[in-house]
Amino acid sequence: MTLKGSSLLFGVVGHPISHSLSPVFQNTALEYLGMDAVYIPFDVPPESFRDFIEGMRALKNLVGLNVTVPHKEVALRLADRVSDEAKAIGAVNTLKFSEGLIEAYNTDWVGFLKTAQMVTELKGKKVLVLGAGGASRAVLYALKKAGAKVYLWNRTQEKARSLAEEFGVQLARDIKTSLMEVEVVVNTTSVGLRDDDPPLFDYNLLTPDKVVIDIIYKETPLLRRAREIGCKSMNGFPMLVYQGAESLRLWTGCEPPLKVMELSLKDYGYPIEHSRNRLQTFQQPS
Ligand code: ATR
Repeated sequence: MTLKGSSLLFGVVGHPISHSLSPVFQNTALEYLGMDAVYIPFDVPPESFRDFIEGMRALKNLVGLNVTVPHKEVALRLADRVSDEAKAIGAVNTLKFSEGLIEAYNTDWVGFLKTAQMVTELKGKKVLVLGAGGASRAVLYALKKAGAKVYLWNRTQEKARSLAEEFGVQLARDIKTSLMEVEVVVNTTSVGLRDDDPPLFDYNLLTPDKVVIDIIYKETPLLRRAREIGCKSMNGFPMLVYQGAESLRLWTGCEPPLKVMELSLKDYGYPIEHSRNRLQTFQQPS
């Protein structure tokens, strides 16, 4: 990549940000599309986020930012225009800068939807969602939109109750009973980020007919057990790429080059085998 004075700016803002893989696949995409542009990570702590965003308004060559933890809710309040989806979800992961104005969007829900659709149909399916934090909101929005019948469980029941009410989904009484009723299980909690996290439930209760999705982007203990039992399963890696791809589409109007974006992450554990059909037809640009 050669930067020039004419280069356009994109980026991701979060805290911490050093773990982010967005610069890897977004810069790959920008280069593939032949754009004179760069995608930069910005590490901004919460107390400086407002100043950061106001400062960004001054940049004439800034096109778009992804917003990640812990800024997704505050970003919604700082934007000048907020999409209906972002309003309903209550969080923003994509900002578009045009002539000093900031438009806010949420593409996390599309990212989740496309990821889930890699392993299951959702219409009419009974789905148990574990967790009622920020990440759960985009998942609930997507599942409702796709016509799934959702049961929501959370360690702190009060949070599950108010989120279930807000999104018009059922409250799950307990995981064990709900497991017997549902076809799909989605983990949106942070449990599994570390291998020694105590399990959310006895994973041996899973049966091969269940589909298990974990939005953490690696093989968590839940996913490992699901695979061993013979369940269809998927981690959150595709969600990461698809939400970014939709952001890119919003910023540039270009069709995101999904295959090259996914390929750029193959050394980071991306589940490439699920993209096999697409990869077979992949050709390098001439
Ligand atoms: P995020 O934005 O990633 O969703 P969050 O808003 O802090 O992060 O939410 C974290 C989620 O993980 C919550 O649902 C939390 O449950 P509580 O609401 O009871 O805190 C869940 N979580 C975190 N640690 C957990 C654990 N050890 N067991 C069960 N759930 C846990």
